[in-house]
Amino acid sequence: MLETRNLDKSFGAVHVTRDVSFRLEKGERRVILGPNGAGKTTLFNLLAGELIPDSGAIMLAGEDVTSLPVASRARRGLSRSYQKNTLFDGLSVEENLGLAASIHTGFGTRLWGDSLSRPEVREIVEDVAAQVNLQPYLHARVSEVSYGVRRQLEVGVALATRPRVLLMDEPTSGVGPEMAGAFHALLAGLPRDLTILIIEHDMDLAFEVADSITVLNYGEVVFDGAPETARGSDLLKEIYLGSWEHA
Ligand SMILES: Nc1ncnc2c1ncn2[C@@H]1O[C@H](COP(=O)(O)OP(=O)(O)OP(=O)(O)O)[C@@H](O)[C@H]1O
Ligand SMILES: [Mg+2]
Repeated sequence: MLETRNLDKSFGAVHVTRDVSFRLEKGERRVILGPNGAGKTTLFNLLAGELIPDSGAIMLAGEDVTSLPVASRARRGLSRSYQKNTLFDGLSVEENLGLAASIHTGFGTRLWGDSLSRPEVREIVEDVAAQVNLQPYLHARVSEVSYGVRRQLEVGVALATRPRVLLMDEPTSGVGPEMAGAFHALLAGLPRDLTILIIEHDMDLAFEVADSITVLNYGEVVFDGAPETARGSDLLKEIYLGSWEHA
């Protein structure tokens, strides 16, 4: 469903993505691990189309999307949530979801107050709110809800475009262990045919949700395999005990 072939990206003299190849089957949940600065977010920027690689290719559902813009990839079913907050603080939780759903259903951003009452949009908003446990907060302004709820909404906004492939950049960063646990329960409830790529700092949580694991170190894939194998890997332990810092 999503594949990268020998991706390379440099910023000036800094080689941030080095020959990165991996492949996700439909419905696969892959976790990307790696220390701070390993190039995880840069990889997502390449996948989503916010950056274009210097070389290599990105295939989405069998189609080469390497140089397609963000919106074209989104239309083909690729959606991402960000490491940093990208929500509209002055709007309600429901309006944030509605806006994403409204763009997805083709009503655009104009008169979106009206579009929230359209059945197609309402259905998505209600569906997604249930999926990410946001029902109690629908009418709250984003600026008034807790940080954890915002992180949930961030994922909700990505889901409101009804993606086939969902990229999540550290969805639980900065939330407590309880919230992180709840989030992983929530992941378990997402449709099984949704292909998911997650950047996660917490190894234990990663092992809990992953079908497969990719470890990046200095922009390079240093491990690709099953969580059980990752757990016992000496290389991983070395990286983990070495430069690995929890965010
Ligand atoms: N636009 C840019 N211009 C120059 N350097 C960049 C740019 N974006 C990222 N970098 C550099 O690329 C390296 C990888 O950054 P990236 O954000 O991809 O790491 P990360 O693995 O997501 O780290 P973290 O775990 O802290 O989120 C860093 O050294 C960063 O400073
Ligand atoms: Mg990052």
